[in-house]
Amino acid sequence: MSAEEILAAVLMGVWLFIPAMVPNTAAVVFGGGTPVDFGRTWKGRRILGDGKTWRGLALGGLAGAAVGALQIWVSHLCGSTDSWGFGPGWSGLGLLLCLSFGALLGDMGGSFVKRRLGRERGAPVPVLDQLDFAVGALLAAAACRPGWVYASYIEGWHILVLAVLLAAVYVLHRSANRIGYALGLKDEPW
Ligand code: CTP
Ligand code: MG
Repeated sequence: MSAEEILAAVLMGVWLFIPAMVPNTAAVVFGGGTPVDFGRTWKGRRILGDGKTWRGLALGGLAGAAVGALQIWVSHLCGSTDSWGFGPGWSGLGLLLCLSFGALLGDMGGSFVKRRLGRERGAPVPVLDQLDFAVGALLAAAACRPGWVYASYIEGWHILVLAVLLAAVYVLHRSANRIGYALGLKDEPW
C-alpha cells in the first residue's frame, strides 16, 4: 500500500461516517420534550436523564439518514455503482439507518453509564462524551453489515483509518459543542 491509498481510505472512512456524525448535532437543534426514559429512575437515579428525548432520537436519526441519502444520491448522479462505498443500488439505505440511529443509541448508552456513575445530566465525562456515539454507530453497522465495517475500518492497515476517524471525531465533537454553546444551543461547552 502507498501513502495515497491510505489517504484515500481515511477520507473514505470519514465520508462513510458522516451519517453517524450528524444525528447528535441535529438532536441538539431539534430535540427537547418528553425524555426517552419518561422520567423514570433506577436505584434512585434517572435511567437516562432529561437530555435524551424522543424528539431528539426521531429527528436526529432522520437527519442523519437524510444526509446519508443525499450522499448516495450525489454518488449516483456521478455514476457510482457502489454508492461510493455505501453499497450497490439502494442497499446502502439500511446501513445509513444503522449508522444514524446507532449513533443515537450509543449516545444513550453513554448517558446510561453516566447516570450509573452518579453524574448528573450535562456533567462532563471525557472520552465517553465524545466517543459513545461513534462506538454505537460502528456496533450497529457491524450488526447490519459486518463485512463492510471489517473492510472499511479493521482489516489490515485499515485499523489506521479507525484510529484517525476516532481522533477526528473527538476533535470535531469538541469544536461542534463549543460552537453550539457559543450560539446558545447547548447548555455546556462539552
Ligand atoms: N438531545 C435530545 N435527544 C437526544 C440527544 C440529545 O433532545 N436523544 C438534546 C438535549 O437537549 C441535550 C442536548 O441535545 O441536552 C445535548 O446532548 P448531550 O450532550 O448528549 O446530552 P446532555 O444534556 O449533556 O446529557 P448527558 O449528560 O446525558 O449526556
Ligand atoms: Mg453532554
